[in-house]
Amino acid sequence: MKIAVIGGDGTGPEVTAEALKVMDAAAKLEGFTIETTEFGFGGDHYLKTGEILPEGAVDQLRKFDAIFLGAIGHPDVAPGILEKGLLLQLRFQLDQYINLRPVKLYPGVDTPLKDKGPEEIDFVVVRENTEDLYAGIGGFLKKGTADEVATQTAIYTRKGCERWLRWAFEYTQKRNNPKGKKLTLVAKTNVLTYGHDLVWRTFQEVAKDYPDVEPDYNHVDACCMWMVKNPEYYDVIATTNMFGDIITDLAGILQGGMGVAAGGNINPDAGGTSMYEPMGGSAPKYTGKNVINPIAAISAGAMLLEHTGQPAAGARVLKAIQTVTGTKMKSQSAGKMGYGTTEVGDLVVEALGG
Ligand code: IPM
Ligand code: MN
Repeated sequence: MKIAVIGGDGTGPEVTAEALKVMDAAAKLEGFTIETTEFGFGGDHYLKTGEILPEGAVDQLRKFDAIFLGAIGHPDVAPGILEKGLLLQLRFQLDQYINLRPVKLYPGVDTPLKDKGPEEIDFVVVRENTEDLYAGIGGFLKKGTADEVATQTAIYTRKGCERWLRWAFEYTQKRNNPKGKKLTLVAKTNVLTYGHDLVWRTFQEVAKDYPDVEPDYNHVDACCMWMVKNPEYYDVIATTNMFGDIITDLAGILQGGMGVAAGGNINPDAGGTSMYEPMGGSAPKYTGKNVINPIAAISAGAMLLEHTGQPAAGARVLKAIQTVTGTKMKSQSAGKMGYGTTEVGDLVVEALGG
């Protein structure tokens, strides 16, 4: 398996190293090898050269089986520049139209929800990843004047909705939740009466092809309440890009937060290149201190393996993570884990055999 590695900024490279260490060990146990190529993109590269993604970089990345991204975000670079220039560029140019975010509370991990445990917090968000308010369409009128108007247009296409929702139905079918296969569309059809009408009509049409999946609907505001009160209600959630961004942070804290949550930017089409990342940021103040939690990055590694043709290796890593959180780690917060970053990586490697 050939993986392009973008360690990125701050603690990104540290957690990436642990993820690669674990993936490599899992590959050995499963009888395949991983070859990595590092790309030094991120804040430092930008400050030195003024370039975020060099020419031809995307075409180079396309040739890999998958991309692993550590974290981007640099204290000396204005917010938004690297996010838009690197993360969103890669999502768009590689047409990674699924943002898959499993929300799974691992054993031993604290959740802010009282009376809820790993049994209740186990669902998956399938966020659309290329359209909506993220399309970057809009502008200013009379900029800088008292009469200024700004527009930011949400775009939804029939093809964009169909490919994302079809993938979500297939995923729900395959996930085969013993509690019942249910796909909840989360949107705002009562207000976004054009865009989300198209989403809703597409959802209903695609649902017909998956009679064993129960199609369900929540408005996004209600979903936020329900997710906190009754997370066990959810099996798979399909949601649009902007709402998906917001509800996956809410969902992320239910599973223990940034030290744990991971996601995949997936292009499931033949020949597509997908990119996996921990959800946390670059945490610059912790850089080089060996205190940041690599579990999120290792989880992203498990997802990469699972979705890049090595599901047994992915399952092995996921199981090892749960052994370590359930029996060894004191906490998922940086500096409070009871172990350093590299030791947590070692513990997961040790647990892989079992
Ligand atoms: C995420 C992040 C990104 C997003 C930012 C960094 C552009 O918040 O992956 O959820 O909004 O999608
Ligand atoms: Mn986000």
